Amino acid sequence: MSNFGSRDLLRAMTPLGTVLHLAFALMACSQEPNRERAVPASNHAEEDLRRRLATTPGATWEAARETGVTREYELVAAPSRLQLLDGRTLDVWAYNEKVPGPTLRANVGDRLRVRLVNRLPQATSIHWHGLRLDNRMDGVPGVTQPPVEPGESFTYEFVLKDAGTFWFHPHIRGSEQVERGLHAALVVGDGALPTLREEVWVLDDWKLAEDGQIDPRFITRHDLAHDGRWGQVVTVNGVSDTTLSLRPGERLRVRLLNVANGRVFRPRFGALTAEVVAFDGRPTSKPLPIDALELAPGNRADVELSAPPSMENQKIVVEDTFTRRRLPLATIEVRGPAEVPATSSSAATLPDPDWSEAARLPPDEVIRLQARRGGPFGVEWTLNEEVMRHSHHEHSSVQHEPRYTFADGRFTKLQFVNESSRLHPMHIHGQFFRVLARDGVPTEEGHWRDTVLVGPHEVVDIGLVPRDAGLWSMHCHIQEHHDSGMMTLLRVK
Ligand code: C2O
Ligand code: CU
Repeated sequence: MSNFGSRDLLRAMTPLGTVLHLAFALMACSQEPNRERAVPASNHAEEDLRRRLATTPGATWEAARETGVTREYELVAAPSRLQLLDGRTLDVWAYNEKVPGPTLRANVGDRLRVRLVNRLPQATSIHWHGLRLDNRMDGVPGVTQPPVEPGESFTYEFVLKDAGTFWFHPHIRGSEQVERGLHAALVVGDGALPTLREEVWVLDDWKLAEDGQIDPRFITRHDLAHDGRWGQVVTVNGVSDTTLSLRPGERLRVRLLNVANGRVFRPRFGALTAEVVAFDGRPTSKPLPIDALELAPGNRADVELSAPPSMENQKIVVEDTFTRRRLPLATIEVRGPAEVPATSSSAATLPDPDWSEAARLPPDEVIRLQARRGGPFGVEWTLNEEVMRHSHHEHSSVQHEPRYTFADGRFTKLQFVNESSRLHPMHIHGQFFRVLARDGVPTEEGHWRDTVLVGPHEVVDIGLVPRDAGLWSMHCHIQEHHDSGMMTLLRVK
């Protein structure tokens, strides 16, 4: 699809040249023929296969019936001073003076109406991560709405199409705004009364300066040359000493979400039984073994924890095992009278689409992930050698042109080729996808995702059936990579 071949020239270009080049690339893109009409006759077998894949049971979901209920919230984003981490007083940016912000709750089919009030010193917005929704409510400044300037407000309103664990955060200068504390969970229930006790655990890390406050040097060259900004303190719900009690035999549902700028978490639960019953908001078709659980920035996982009925008076330390040094996240105290073991709360009604035949299809698009010198931060991250920047368009509401166009309801295969030695959690707005293969080896994950971690020099194939017309963002969820340009737009029509 890349129909401009001046890559070498591009490398030598000045930043101004890059901007011109980008403008040219966008123009070239908008003049491309419609892919649907471009399919030659010899590709009929391929189109048949695509049609079969797109109509496999479980390949898509329809919207739930509307409940007629509207849930209204107001979120005020403002600087705030809170007791966080180890109890110290920390200057943060917060929604409603909380970090994480308040957990919003609603049921599938409800209408959510959220008024965002901006009392920050810079423009902001809210993106509803992982939700399928009306494109105009997706919260991407310069693409789906103008930025919400200081002193202004914006009301988001949409119907919730899916039950599950989601979250929300600004979609502008995330490297600063998310790091300073703007993020929170959105839990969408399926309408049934919860059968298990449940907790939301927001996983984060903090890079502190010598004075113990949030290090105000954002999007540094160091962050850009690595996997974004990794802090020296990890927290669950903003504090480093989260403790829960659990009765022997009791089953607890923990909704985990990773809001860190760059850090990947691999939580382990010691002697407790832990089953992953949902990933990125969607039920897993079979409980995912806990050994396979990894949360890149943006990912969520619902984990059901239980202690054997015979266990008594034990303290279990939940640890992050992603880095060589294990980091304690929380403590679970098993105590009290034993309970009759409860059954899983997981509905797990989603059929797995059988997409094994997709291996025969060529990717619709190959997306190469790479960095280069240049740009406003000295290093910029690219998708097929293009960058897209938001921080520089804060005061414009210019619509960007989409780089890729996909047909609504057509089976689509994308290939991420990581040409770098860094991590890139690739996220697509408004859609769910499946990992089809890693380095060419077919993968059966048994769950959907909206964010997939692409490792150093790894090639990841994903499959999806795009739904919902609009301009959807696709980007690396490492905030620094994203802010330096690692984002593109796809149009579903
Ligand atoms: Cu949570 Cu566009 O991201
Ligand atoms: Cu990245």
